Amino acid sequence: MWPKTREVERELRQMKRQTRIIMVLVTLVMAVPALGGVVDTKHNFTSPTASPNAYFFGTRQVCVFCHAVHNASTTYSPLWNHETNGATPYTMYTSDTMDMVQSASPHEGSLICLSCHDGTIAVNSLNNVPGPEGAGNYGAPGGSGLDASGRLTSSSHAFVGTDLRDDHPVGILYDANRDPAFHPKTGSSASYPDKLLDQGLYVECNSCHNPHDNTYTNFLTESNASSALCLRCHIQ
Ligand code: HEC
Ligand code: HEC
Ligand code: HEC
Ligand code: HEC
Repeated sequence: MWPKTREVERELRQMKRQTRIIMVLVTLVMAVPALGGVVDTKHNFTSPTASPNAYFFGTRQVCVFCHAVHNASTTYSPLWNHETNGATPYTMYTSDTMDMVQSASPHEGSLICLSCHDGTIAVNSLNNVPGPEGAGNYGAPGGSGLDASGRLTSSSHAFVGTDLRDDHPVGILYDANRDPAFHPKTGSSASYPDKLLDQGLYVECNSCHNPHDNTYTNFLTESNASSALCLRCHIQ
């Protein structure tokens, strides 16, 4: 009897160890989405699970909606693959209390976002679709945020439109000398405006948003708890 019981015990121990290993693996796999980057966000247009209001049937590549390794746009960086919107007119934010210089239209750090978010160009309209096709549309639209040709519509909460008067100003050359309510640039400090400015100069969409990472929700570049993001630039 004894040896048998010991054998069973050994087997039990082994099973326990295996279960522990499996649990560790399961925990690791479950932890991956938090580190998954763009794949687990609404910017994964291949997946109705990740992006339920805006996805494309028959698509598999995630990055290609925005980047291409060949035949990319030379207008925007980095290796931009979405149809560009340089000629689209935008109505800029206006206000009597603005002191800094605002351009007549947004710069690249906003145009790249608006090329989808203004609703004038299909989300799947690419310079280079996967395969040998060249420029064209990738997949067929699905989800309540898109129209039949794949453009974002005002039914999506992420629709920004071409009228930017109701949005935080963009196209602004950041200059705290013109307004004492703003932190000065220091050259490189991470706790000041510097790192947030497009090309080191401008307030654009990418000052506050990182299109790859939804850690802080709404693709924010950092946490806005207690308005910390706002206070990187604004003094009050
Ligand atoms: C919805 C559009 C979108 C998707 C999808 C996307 N990117 Fe990007 N990516 C951008 C934008 C916009 C920038 C420029 C960011 C900036 O200027 O702040 C960028 C920048 C980059 C850069 C330059 C360095 C950096 O992080 O700023 C790399 C590398 C990159 N993307 C890789 C990828 C890869 C790999 C994927 C797929 C797994 C991907 N991107 C998916 C929009 C996207
Ligand atoms: C290739 C097209 C495309 C580009 C480029 C793009 N977006 Fe999006 N974005 C979308 C679509 C489509 C959605 C999902 C809309 C929906 O769910 O209704 C979305 C969703 C979002 C959301 C909502 C996220 C949420 O959790 O609800 C934010 C914020 C956003 N985008 C910001 C940006 C910013 C900022 C940029 C530029 C740095 C950008 N996007 C570039 C197409 C794009
Ligand atoms: C000064 C910072 C800042 C700038 C610049 C900015 N955003 Fe946002 N954006 C935010 C914050 C903060 C939120 C989250 C708002 C909330 O939680 O209510 C947000 C939310 C969004 C959303 C989600 C829908 C919504 O209205 O809440 C979209 C889409 C979006 N931004 C796109 C853009 C685009 C496109 C640009 C450039 C034209 C831009 N943002 C410029 C800070 C900014
Ligand atoms: C990257 C720097 C930066 C960040 C981050 C930022 N802002 Fe701004 N904001 C500016 C600049 C620059 C102006 C234009 C100031 C001027 O021209 O005097 C501005 C203007 C504004 C205005 C309009 C002021 C007016 O006179 O009409 C409001 C309101 C505002 N910001 C709120 C916010 C909020 C809320 C946040 C956080 C979600 C935020 N900002 C984050 C730089 C920033």
